[in-house]
This record gives sequence, structure tokens and C-alpha cells, in this order.
Amino acid sequence: MDSLPVLAEKTRVCQLCPLGKTRMHAVPGEGPDNPTIMLIGEAPGRNEDEQGRPFVGAAGKKLEELLTHAGLTRGNVFITSVVKCRPPENRVPTNEEAITCKTNYLEKQIQILQPEIIGLMGRTAIQHVLGDDTPIDLERMHGKTIEKKGKKYLILYHPAAMIYNQSLKERMQDDFRELTKKGDE
Ligand code: URA
Repeated sequence: MDSLPVLAEKTRVCQLCPLGKTRMHAVPGEGPDNPTIMLIGEAPGRNEDEQGRPFVGAAGKKLEELLTHAGLTRGNVFITSVVKCRPPENRVPTNEEAITCKTNYLEKQIQILQPEIIGLMGRTAIQHVLGDDTPIDLERMHGKTIEKKGKKYLILYHPAAMIYNQSLKERMQDDFRELTKKGDE
């Protein structure tokens, strides 16, 4: 199996889906190499595409706030997304893009990192990582832990949700705190 840096290098030059033609920089993800906690979002946005780093724009600010509130920092968690390249106009990744990226990169990252808990931030991450086509009711599911094939997942709203809906803030803070509780078990 490839090491994490080799996988990241392959991601940076990847042309397995059409997003390889329009991206500026692929965003493999970043964090410690044996994290307790891994966080997975949807796909890079404009700032991430420019810098090649995950969650460095407006959603990243919210993510950092949520981590701080939970007693964590970016340095304690591995942060990535289902899709490593920015979809044009920040559209939702297609199934083909998500599945290609997941099987070639995300699943391998999870296998290498072996985190104790994986936070799935938003619908794209939940749908593609859990591989479940049933409609996702975040109102009902957020904050819940799911065990699947020996892995532990925590269902989270995407940090960007807080930009549009301030009333989610407390719920999201509570949910993010679950990462540390479950990670310490
Ligand atoms: N949103 C995501 O899902 N991932 C990023 O890297 C940035 C914003």
C-alpha cells in the first residue's frame, strides 16, 4: 500500500475524473499521521483550490471555531474531503467524481490513518462514506455515532451550515464535542 505522502502526491497529479482539468491545486488533506480523529467534508472551495490546503476559507474559520470549542486544534485532527479537487462553481460533486475519488484516495487514507473516530461533515460525506442511498435527515441524525464494518462514524453538519444558519451553532458545538468523548474511549 502507498504511504500517505505518496498517496498525496498521486492526488496532486490525478486526472482520473474531469475535475483534474479545472482545479488549480488538489487538496489531499492534512493532519497528524496517527490521528485519533479524522474529519471528512465535501470538496475544496475557491480558497482551498488556490492554496492546496483543506478548510482554509469561510467554512474553515467555522471549523476552527468548532474545534476550539471542543478543546481541539487543527493539529490534533486529520482534515480532508470526499473529493480532493474543486468542482467548478462549487457545485456538489457528481456521483462519478465522488466514487472515483473515494475509492482511489479517501478509502486508502482511512486505511493508512486508522482513526478511532471519523466525523462525517455534511451530506456528501455521509452519503458517500457510509455508502447509503437513503435520504439523509441531518436534523434527526446529527450527533449520532454509527458503527459500520468495525469503524466508528460521527454524523455532523458541515461547518458551512453555521454560516447560513446561526441557530445551528449550539447543536454543532455539542456534536463536535462528541468527537473528543468518543475518541477517548
Ligand atoms: N468544504 C469542504 O467540504 N472541504 C474543504 O476543504 C473546504 C470546504
